[in-house]
Amino acid sequence: MAVNNAMTADFLRSAYGGESMAHMRYLIWGDSAEQGGFPNIGRLFRGVGYAEWAHAKNHFNVLKQQVGDSTVAAGAVFGHTSIVENLQGAINGELHEIDQMYPVYLETAKFQEEKDAQKSFHYALEAEKIHAKLFQDAQNAAKDGKDIGSEAIYVCPICGFTEIGDHVDHCPICGVKKDVFKSF
Ligand code: FE2
Ligand code: FE2
Ligand code: FE2
Repeated sequence: MAVNNAMTADFLRSAYGGESMAHMRYLIWGDSAEQGGFPNIGRLFRGVGYAEWAHAKNHFNVLKQQVGDSTVAAGAVFGHTSIVENLQGAINGELHEIDQMYPVYLETAKFQEEKDAQKSFHYALEAEKIHAKLFQDAQNAAKDGKDIGSEAIYVCPICGFTEIGDHVDHCPICGVKKDVFKSF
């Protein structure tokens, strides 16, 4: 894996930064959800946090030949309050990635013929669409004081595809067999 053009490399670094922070933020909010009596929403945060780790890993690996320090500017969401507000922060972050960040990064990678970056951005964009919906469903439950269901949450370690319950044989985003999915 490699990247040749500076603009796509900058976008990979920024996306790596954003995904790294999302990973950490979801673990923190997941602990809060569990402590607040919403253990299944806690698992959702942890599962999606693992998906964000997969995105960060993919971006990092495309950059693997870009050795050296870099200052990274990346979008970050702050706030650690009620479960409904934390879920709103999660939804806002995912929607920013879906509506603006990843479409722009993906078009740039296409323009610059950066095949590896295209794949990394494509995987993330498709998984974030699912994350936004899962967090919205969880917020709807939390607004009524309810947790989500207790079915296992499965996450593809290659692309970050996430599903509640066991529904697919192959990952619908990257095509890998479900045997490699991690469950939460
Ligand atoms: Fe992500
Ligand atoms: Fe996400
Ligand atoms: Fe996948």
